[in-house]
Amino acid sequence: MQFTNEELIAKIKDLKERLSVTVVAHFYQRDEVFEMGDITGDSLELAQRTKEDDAEFVVFCGVGFMGQSVKVLSPHKRVLMPKVACCAMAKMIDGIYYDDSVKFLEQHGIAKENILPITYINSNADVKAKVGEMGGMVCTSSNAKKIITTALSEGKKILFVPDRCLGQNIANQMGLKSMVIGQGGDPKDSDIICYDGFCSVHQLFSVEDIEFYRKKYPGILIATHPECDPAVCEASDFVGSTSQLIKYIKELPEDQKVAVGTEFNMVNRLRPKNTYVLSSTKPECPTMNETTLEDLYLTLKSIEDGAPINEIQVDENTQKWAKIALDRMLAL
Ligand code: 13P
Ligand code: SF4
Repeated sequence: MQFTNEELIAKIKDLKERLSVTVVAHFYQRDEVFEMGDITGDSLELAQRTKEDDAEFVVFCGVGFMGQSVKVLSPHKRVLMPKVACCAMAKMIDGIYYDDSVKFLEQHGIAKENILPITYINSNADVKAKVGEMGGMVCTSSNAKKIITTALSEGKKILFVPDRCLGQNIANQMGLKSMVIGQGGDPKDSDIICYDGFCSVHQLFSVEDIEFYRKKYPGILIATHPECDPAVCEASDFVGSTSQLIKYIKELPEDQKVAVGTEFNMVNRLRPKNTYVLSSTKPECPTMNETTLEDLYLTLKSIEDGAPINEIQVDENTQKWAKIALDRMLAL
């Protein structure tokens, strides 16, 4: 039987009241799903706040690595995902590609003990575990600079996976030398060696888009996410995580125009006037958009029926080391 959105919303609210469950939603979720979230935020806030929450079940509306991170941090919690959708960037690296990247550095004369790996939170638990085992840690777009500053104090080469753009953007901000594996350059001459992963959604924004808006609306501000290309971030007035972008834009005077380089759902609900999407192509994250109200309802209903669906499981060894990598970040 098909329900209308209004009916689904009523059913979801009723189930939330009766069950020991917290619904978590990332900013990129569809509006109607996002509005059902008890906890909303950027990747770091979602990880921190969900860890502190004490409901038995977490229903995570987001992409796979986000639900996995909750399970890794709180293995006693039962984490369900209405859609186990995998972030395209997280899919670009696995344990084998990670090991190959370490080998690449070794082949260029850098011993394993002189490498400090950092993985962006947009990676699966197996990669986080490998990083944890090598003494490294996780970062998010909101704390990457702080994490890299701490890592540099160990005097080692930083292997940054999987997002080459975030790695290069932080390097540029900090005046450090960076390179991307497979794109030339000698790791010995670089402070940060980046894996060649990227987010296809954030690749949609270009310097031409920025020029277009600046010409059309002189005085417009450009705000972008650090997953955008380094040339785009360099040309922006503000670069930040989803939460940082929201704060920046909400604090602007009402008549200040701004063009934003990040996912469509979030930009669309930001501000009623004077806010533009920095691309002529609609920048929707396909995997974030997979989760529907009906999926959320069916997941909550499965808890009520005593047969939870789409439960996230992480094996013990992966959980142990991935948690170490995540805890190192949270301790900072
Ligand atoms: P934030 O940590 O800024 O929310 O980013 C998550 C993400 O996947 C951006 O594409
Ligand atoms: Fe992954 Fe990009 Fe979607 Fe973020 S916007 S979840 S990095 S594919």
